[in-house]
Amino acid sequence: MSPSQTSTWTRTPTWIRPRLQSLPLLALLLSSLFSQCSQSKAVFAHFMVANTKNYTLATWKTDMQLAQASSIDAFALNAGYGMPHTARALRDAFAAAEELNFKLLFSLDYSGDGHWPKDRVVDILTEYTPREAYYRHSDGRALVTTFEGFQAAGDWSDIKKTVHNRTANANATTDDGEAGCCFFIPDWTSVGPRRAGGIEAVDGLMSWDAWPEGTHMMNTTEDEEWMSVLDGRPYIMPVSPWFYTNLKRFDKNWVWRGDDLWYDRWEQVLELNPEYVEILTWNDYGESHYIGPLVEGATGILGEAGAPFDYVGGMPHDGWRATLPYLIALYKAGDSVEEREGVVGEIEEEVLSVWYRLSHANSCADGKTTGNSENQGQTLMEPGEVLEDKVFYSALLEASADVRVSIGGDNRSAEWTDVPSGGQGVYHGSVEMGQRTGEVVVTLERDGAFLAQMEGKSIEKECPGNLTNWNAWVGNATGVRQNRPSGGGGGGAGEDV
Ligand SMILES: *[C@@H]1O[C@H](CO)[C@@H](O)[C@H](O)[C@H]1NC(C)=O
Ligand SMILES: *[C@@H]1O[C@H](CO)[C@@H](O)[C@H](O)[C@H]1NC(C)=O
Ligand SMILES: *[C@@H]1O[C@H](CO)[C@@H](O)[C@H](O)[C@H]1NC(C)=O
Ligand SMILES: *[C@@H]1O[C@H](CO)[C@@H](O)[C@H](O)[C@H]1NC(C)=O
Ligand SMILES: *[C@@H]1O[C@H](CO)[C@@H](O)[C@H](O)[C@H]1NC(C)=O
Ligand SMILES: *[C@@H]1O[C@H](CO)[C@@H](O)[C@H](O)[C@H]1NC(C)=O
Ligand SMILES: *[C@@H]1O[C@H](CO)[C@@H](O)[C@H](O)[C@H]1NC(C)=O
Repeated sequence: MSPSQTSTWTRTPTWIRPRLQSLPLLALLLSSLFSQCSQSKAVFAHFMVANTKNYTLATWKTDMQLAQASSIDAFALNAGYGMPHTARALRDAFAAAEELNFKLLFSLDYSGDGHWPKDRVVDILTEYTPREAYYRHSDGRALVTTFEGFQAAGDWSDIKKTVHNRTANANATTDDGEAGCCFFIPDWTSVGPRRAGGIEAVDGLMSWDAWPEGTHMMNTTEDEEWMSVLDGRPYIMPVSPWFYTNLKRFDKNWVWRGDDLWYDRWEQVLELNPEYVEILTWNDYGESHYIGPLVEGATGILGEAGAPFDYVGGMPHDGWRATLPYLIALYKAGDSVEEREGVVGEIEEEVLSVWYRLSHANSCADGKTTGNSENQGQTLMEPGEVLEDKVFYSALLEASADVRVSIGGDNRSAEWTDVPSGGQGVYHGSVEMGQRTGEVVVTLERDGAFLAQMEGKSIEKECPGNLTNWNAWVGNATGVRQNRPSGGGGGGAGEDV
């Protein structure tokens, strides 16, 4: 069993962590700092190499092409030490990436029982960081991240020097001969920003704090703490749509609030304007936060790690990618809301994405799943308190549209809870399922004319084995071009969904 599948980090209970005071002032300082320092924004997707045992070169390419179509810059390859198929996986991944002009970087996974020995890290970085497909920071250095591994923090100053020496890294444009190889941005979330930021070899930091606690909405408190200790050095901000894991073998069975998270978190990215964003994840099926496709022969982790039922099969998440090209373009278009205004221009395609669970929280047994996680020092709640019985929808629109949600034929007008300033951009909203069951159909209309319709899977009273699947089903649709707002690019009239 691969160590990296045990990957959920153990959070130091927040009350133990040193807290920073005077956040409003901090936010002001941050915004002035960041407008000077973000030279090379990029969006990565965290990618579990453990799930690629059955991949061929073609599978890698398909994944990379989908990521490219979503404007993702690189996969951060989560590799645990000692996985037998890693060498072949990396060979194929780098070959595929070089063919497609896609980028890769390492996220060395130190969790579980697979701590990376220093010389093995040197070997793998020496082999891969000089490759053309390896992702480089704006100063030319190969960007390297981790999943945890603070216990090995002391290794990194030597690792950087030795790898630099061995690769004589001609492509690095930095004059810093001492540490020219790697731009090191570890995720050491479990020890908190102060301790992580105190390590000299660190060039930036990543956080894994992508999910709110209990019934809170996600906020940026933790991100701002990480950014403040970095004092302008790059931060990798984590963004995730969901969290449900139920793997007996790893003693993991909990949910954190997804719901509005995918919408809210991207708004927070635009607000905080970090240098890097990492989507958690492309393909971590075991924790239900994949935004990549359901690849055949890649979800074996569920059976192998003792999931009581298959909570991933038939639960596509591709629709979450529909708004990404726009959001990523907006994030890269400027460093503040004002700078970005009008920069992105016309929206090429209007899109709708919709997500919800396939049963009410109280229809079936909860499978002993908890809301919040005991091993993270959190207060346990009912999963149905943390996740709401709602249908969530986001739409990327040129101008406002009317939304209707039908559940089992009960077709009602619905509202937007969030509307983009200026009217162009991502709209968001949700409706209560109530006690309704049946097919979910979300329809967009503009000025009474049809715009888009997503016909989704039914909400049922029954569940597989009478166990609630706390994962989300995600669907999407594309708007018809003839009903774009007048003057807003009706050029492709007639091209239908
Ligand atoms: C970087 O340098 C290495 C050798 O030092 C070389 O193999 C590799 O092709 C170079 N990559 C780029 C992108 O120039
Ligand atoms: C780098 O290489 C040079 C000569 O090749 C050697 O003298 C030096 O000790 C090496 N430094 C490190 C940190 O490995
Ligand atoms: C942010 O959310 C966390 C829980 O995820 C909560 O404990 C904290 O109080 C919130 N902070 C603010 C400023 O609302
Ligand atoms: C690869 O395929 C085998 C045989 O179908 C399966 O048992 C295994 O779980 C798959 N591996 C992954 C990572 O899904
Ligand atoms: C749904 O979104 C995915 C990812 O962006 C896209 O490839 C697909 O074409 C979309 N489907 C529809 C029906 O819009
Ligand atoms: C399914 O679980 C629910 C909630 O625990 C319970 O009320 C119901 O009786 C169960 N149904 C079956 C068929 O076991
Ligand atoms: C709901 O009503 C809208 C507007 O009248 C219509 O376009 C849509 O097809 C209806 N949905 C269903 C499932 O009948």
